[in-house]
Amino acid sequence: MDFDTLRMDFPTVRNGAGIYLDSACQALRPDCVIRAMDEYYGDYPACGGRSVHSMASRVSLAVDETREALASFFGTDEPGCYVFTKNCTEGLNTAAFGLGLKKGDTVITTDSEHNSNHIPWLILQENAGIRRKYSRSAEDGSFDMEFFKGLFDSSVRAVSVQQSNSVTGQTLPVREIAEIAHDRNAVVIIDGAQSAPHIPVDLKKIDADIFCFSVHKMPGPSGMGVMYGKKEVLESLNPVFGGGGTVGLVTYDSFTPAPVPDRFEAGLQNYADIIGTKAALEYLSGIGMDNIGKHDSELMRRMMGNLEDVRNLHILGSSVPEKHGSILSFNIDGLKPHDIAMMADSMKGIMIRSGMHCSHPFYVSRHIGGSARASVYLYNNIAEIDAFTDTIRHIADVFGE
Ligand SMILES: Cc1ncc(COP(=O)(O)O)c(C=O)c1O
Repeated sequence: MDFDTLRMDFPTVRNGAGIYLDSACQALRPDCVIRAMDEYYGDYPACGGRSVHSMASRVSLAVDETREALASFFGTDEPGCYVFTKNCTEGLNTAAFGLGLKKGDTVITTDSEHNSNHIPWLILQENAGIRRKYSRSAEDGSFDMEFFKGLFDSSVRAVSVQQSNSVTGQTLPVREIAEIAHDRNAVVIIDGAQSAPHIPVDLKKIDADIFCFSVHKMPGPSGMGVMYGKKEVLESLNPVFGGGGTVGLVTYDSFTPAPVPDRFEAGLQNYADIIGTKAALEYLSGIGMDNIGKHDSELMRRMMGNLEDVRNLHILGSSVPEKHGSILSFNIDGLKPHDIAMMADSMKGIMIRSGMHCSHPFYVSRHIGGSARASVYLYNNIAEIDAFTDTIRHIADVFGE
């Protein structure tokens, strides 16, 4: 796969808009995604699933095609098991609040979750009296299976974990986690925000009951996500929102829920983005997720190799590049993460993220104020990585302690 040619599919790369190393937040978009959305707005900007005229029918068909593309991309049989959401967070909230958990029910997460997979459970802890347990992560971010197994008792109803971590980049053995949880009758929810864009995800193999991810990280439209659920799990989940499109028959006193997935998609949907999602999935499939994973690894090896001897730079997580997926979080003695990010941008147009990356408990529990974070994707190349590491070395030498 010629990634250097591929880069040119991205307008911001062609236009020299800077070195973008913030893909864990949001990816750049290729022409095909932008074109698919433009086509919708220019040619058939109607609603789907309601009106029967020709423009609306074209939209309905396109929405169905995106669900089919999702089922094929994630190796499942049923397109109807993919619910469109506005992001991964909405999917995780829909799952958490839809399970009908009661006082005393326990939910296990890891100690390193993104706030999207932490705050909904905290709200349920406060409002419904559920209990929380945290599976501990080792210093390098890896999963402690024995500790996890020891957390189960008869009150555990759900296990909800990230597949790939947004700070350390570590990928968890979610298939084994799901097997253990299922043996103990717990529902398994996977946050795939950082894995779905970067590695092959086979939902049948993982056997997740629910799998949520962000399309804007892979590299689809902004404000777009998906919640996959096994059919029987979706059918047992209580919808959080109700309204147009979610019902069959309605009287003044009652309503019949529409079949899944419609019952979870209240009101008019984000059709342009749903259509752009199919273009993004086809784009990724054309490259091959294995190839993308290998490309990420090559860039991470280069990045970590280049930074190895920067004496005042500290990496969060493993010292092994392959364990970082596409993410490198780091600190430089004497500098605040935001200062590092602003200097990299103003000196060389290098865009990285800084702060706590919506993973506050991770940082607070380790008494770390935050970190800088560089994240790579398929459009980055070795020259960009070298420019980034040269700049970071310079910042560390001149401004660090
Ligand atoms: C691991 C993880 N989970 C969830 C999210 C939230 O994704 P979204 O902003 O699409 O809701 C992110 C975003 O960075 C993430 O990294």
